Amino acid sequence: MKEKLTQIKERAAKRLAEAADLKTLEELRVEILGKKGELTQILKGMGSLSKEERPVIGQLANEVRSEIESKLEEAKTSLASKAQELKLKAETIDVTMPGKVTELGHKHPMTQVIDEISNIFIGMGYEIVEGPEVETAYYNFEALNIPKDHPARDEQDTFYINGIGDFLLRTQTSPMQVRTMETRKPPIRIIAPGRVYRSDEVDATHSPVFHQLEGLVIDKGITMGDLKGALAEFAKGLFGENTKVRFRPHHFPFTEPSAEMDASCFACGGKGCRVCKDSGWIEVLGCGMVHPKVLEMSGIDPKVYSGFAFGLGLERIAMQKYAISDLRLLFENDTKFLKQF
Ligand code: DAH
Repeated sequence: MKEKLTQIKERAAKRLAEAADLKTLEELRVEILGKKGELTQILKGMGSLSKEERPVIGQLANEVRSEIESKLEEAKTSLASKAQELKLKAETIDVTMPGKVTELGHKHPMTQVIDEISNIFIGMGYEIVEGPEVETAYYNFEALNIPKDHPARDEQDTFYINGIGDFLLRTQTSPMQVRTMETRKPPIRIIAPGRVYRSDEVDATHSPVFHQLEGLVIDKGITMGDLKGALAEFAKGLFGENTKVRFRPHHFPFTEPSAEMDASCFACGGKGCRVCKDSGWIEVLGCGMVHPKVLEMSGIDPKVYSGFAFGLGLERIAMQKYAISDLRLLFENDTKFLKQF
């Protein structure tokens, strides 16, 4: 029996040392020390021993048992620390590895133009307002002194929402003049950039959706001189300190008198080049003194207040500024194109 115990001990030590994982260890524990294990079987057979042998074998069996138990513990600890080591190795972060570069986007050239122009006016004390792209015929036309049979309605081919009726996609940002005068008290100094819509065929200079920026100033004693001063200052901000402006008489239903403003060409300084089509000037905006009827319809007394308004198309400015030859490029959003700006 002694021999058998020694055998068990040695075999257990060997197998425990060879066990490759915790699961194998557990299986071994059951096999050797469990209820049906080898050692237990031996202890069960002790009844057949003589009185003298029993305590000797008993003691030996207990020693073997505790030795196997401590070997088992040892093997467990060493397996666990090996596993931990492997895990740490696998999870090691190589701090010297170069990072993955995330590509940064940037603002669309139209957004850049809107931001730049907005900042010029913010610098002159204007506030930015925004309004709906789905408008009523009242704000888009009537309140701007464009009655139902007025030819200006045909000039701006309108997208109506439900056939010709009350709702439409605004054809201009000018309705923001009316919305502002209805909700604010003078002094008013605002600009309103945004999308506008006209049912034009797409080509190099036309798109059914484009951007305009509207401006409005209302106060006591505002004159054409204020208009010229403010807009000349704007032109300098946009095109450079040496920019000159000129005003040509024009007609808009919502202003009287009305004008168009040209700026001396920023590319050639007025000598004539491709950008200005050899004229030395580039058309920038429409403007005028707000028509007394428009003031009155919006609840502002034309005997007390006066003001000026202006409106400009932003795509044209972007195209000139960035030398873009085709309007469609601004809407197609090909990142290879947009990356250049
Ligand atoms: N709404 C005009 C257009 O779409 C532009 C315009 C001209 C706006 C003169 C104005 C203005 O406020 O005074 O062509």
